[in-house]
Amino acid sequence: MTLDLFKLRQEYTQQELDINDLQDNPINQFSLWFDQALTAGVHEPNAMVLATVSSSGQPSARIVLLKKVDNEGFSFFTNYQSRKGLQLQENNRAAIVFYWAELERQVRIEGIVQKTTSAESDEYFAQRPTGSRIGAWASPQSNEIQDRAFLDKLYLDIEKSMSDKNVTRPEFWGGYKLKPHLLEFWQGRENRLHDRMEYRLINNEWQIRRLAP
Ligand SMILES: Cc1cc2nc3c(=O)[nH]c(=O)nc-3n(C[C@H](O)[C@H](O)[C@H](O)COP(=O)(O)O)c2cc1C
Repeated sequence: MTLDLFKLRQEYTQQELDINDLQDNPINQFSLWFDQALTAGVHEPNAMVLATVSSSGQPSARIVLLKKVDNEGFSFFTNYQSRKGLQLQENNRAAIVFYWAELERQVRIEGIVQKTTSAESDEYFAQRPTGSRIGAWASPQSNEIQDRAFLDKLYLDIEKSMSDKNVTRPEFWGGYKLKPHLLEFWQGRENRLHDRMEYRLINNEWQIRRLAP
């Protein structure tokens, strides 16, 4: 079977990105672009590809949801015993990519990941819907399970055993925060001559440069 996609082609013509338009601080630039993605009605603008790397050097990527951004970094939540959790334990270097097709924009971020504090994880967990909180308890994320019924039973058992109690955060579930040292803002342009602006943290100062597309 061959899937020939040679003719699938999109020109990017919406906007430009000039070095003079950029905020000095990349977190502020991200915040600006994120607001614009929200306003443009981008579907799940906080969905991002998270790439991690095993101790043997094998990269692995999946989508997770960005839940908080501040000057410390980009936070997401997951099962600490999942495949990504184990990889982050072995190797705390990771990368994040956002693609906002409606705006013809990409943001790439690289940095070092650490667990959020228990207080931060508790705060987020507490405001998830009850079903999602039970789901976090029920799913041995990334482990093999025999069938769907096994998962549904786990959920029901936990729902029953916890029904009268507050469903508090399991120890094995919580947040990670990626502290960035590199961010790239990419705006699609005509003829594949896209605008790419890169921020690098050098001696604690953000330096900006334009990259060839
Ligand atoms: C739109 C979307 C959002 C997701 N958000 C999360 C998330 O915030 N946290 C999470 O653990 N998994 C999330 N997932 C599931 C992950 O992509 C992945 O399947 C799961 O975390 C297991 O990955 P791992 O085996 O590499 O650890 C999301 C998937 C999609 C498609």
